[in-house]
Amino acid sequence: MKIANMKLHTLSLALIGVYACSADYDPASYVDRSCGTDLSNLWLDVIAVVDNSRGMTNKGLSYVASSIISVFGKNTRIGSSSAEPRTTRLGLVTYNSVATQNADLNQYQSIEDAYYGIYGALSTTVNTTESYLTTGLNAAVELFSRQSFRSNRQHYRKVIIVYASEYNGRGEFDPVPIANRLKASGVNIITIAYEQPGSAGLLQGLSQIASPGFSFSGDNIAGNLVKEIQTALLQSNCFCPNDWTQYRGSYSDPTSYRYGVCLLPVNLPKVWASAKMACSMKSNRTHLATEFTQAKHDFIFNLAQHSNFKQNPYTYHIGLNFVNGAWIWDQPAGQSPVNLKSWSNWQTGFPIGSPASQSVVSNIQNGVTTKWNNIAMYTAAADYVCETYSCDTDNYCDADFVYDN
Ligand SMILES: *[C@@H]1O[C@H](CO)[C@@H](O)[C@H](O)[C@H]1NC(C)=O
Ligand SMILES: *[C@@H]1O[C@H](CO)[C@@H](O)[C@H](O)[C@H]1NC(C)=O
Repeated sequence: MKIANMKLHTLSLALIGVYACSADYDPASYVDRSCGTDLSNLWLDVIAVVDNSRGMTNKGLSYVASSIISVFGKNTRIGSSSAEPRTTRLGLVTYNSVATQNADLNQYQSIEDAYYGIYGALSTTVNTTESYLTTGLNAAVELFSRQSFRSNRQHYRKVIIVYASEYNGRGEFDPVPIANRLKASGVNIITIAYEQPGSAGLLQGLSQIASPGFSFSGDNIAGNLVKEIQTALLQSNCFCPNDWTQYRGSYSDPTSYRYGVCLLPVNLPKVWASAKMACSMKSNRTHLATEFTQAKHDFIFNLAQHSNFKQNPYTYHIGLNFVNGAWIWDQPAGQSPVNLKSWSNWQTGFPIGSPASQSVVSNIQNGVTTKWNNIAMYTAAADYVCETYSCDTDNYCDADFVYDN
């Protein structure tokens, strides 16, 4: 048997992944938190959808097998049997003119299982030149519906990694509609193009299938393809609970850099002290929003304008308040306060009065933006903005928090 003869040192070579270790986020650094980058704590449901038609070639298939194994590496918890909830299940579908489910999402319970299963399934191509990605995507939909959506892992992000040597977009084989349905239901799609002589247009075809920024070329196998896929998986694993908005570089550009920070505009006016309490009750990593930078302030103002906040003037509480002689930012329960530094956004003439009696801050509209006004903690009811850590490899979120907070 071919698989049994594989030398184990091949396995250890294949397991050399790229790891970025991450320290706990330090709010005192006065930068917004970034997404976790710890592959050993990845928590996803992933299906590899691999073209095994003749165009792929046996050599190409063995590259694909080693690529899939290297992407995860020896520290990722493959399977779901660990007591730690941060595990990744990995399924395998191959396709040519038809699709085959080689491994459902519960089959591999360790990276070794995955190694033997994947090399076994991807040892030879099928003798056909027909290759219809649509059939592979349909099999992945079926597998996610049966084992991931509406399961106890419903709140885990779902990812499909497509390895293809050909793109057939004609008529009933057009994979775009099913890819769009998958993406609309929250599944991310990563594509890797194994361009063959005569299969020009593959990369372009697959880029219509992929989630933004997740379309890669298989020619890069010797370069950083593994790193590119790992980064796409880490980004897929970094998300916000339902109704929260992930803070990103630009409000108007959904593909701009995403921070490990989620924001929730609440249009249910409360006095500042009650708003602070309401945010902190949502989780022990939730607090009234910080505005360390102009960019964050602008993002939050955009969010407020898209959130049915009371207008004329827009007025909403943020986490700045005066405690023990200093302006500080609200933080999650039990964490040290962070002093106001560098950038500030006071309305002209503010802070006013005695900070002891007007000790909390609301953003109040002044022309085309909003400015910080210090007000009293218990008198003026206003909308407010909560902030929390994104769900990612450094921060597991349970189903209750993702769906219902
Ligand atoms: C592959 O199929 C073609 C016909 O479709 C046949 O001529 C050829 O011999 C087959 N090759 C192998 C290795 O079976
Ligand atoms: C915060 O909540 C998480 C998850 O519910 C828990 O694991 C952790 O111990 C809590 N931390 C504190 C300081 O209470």
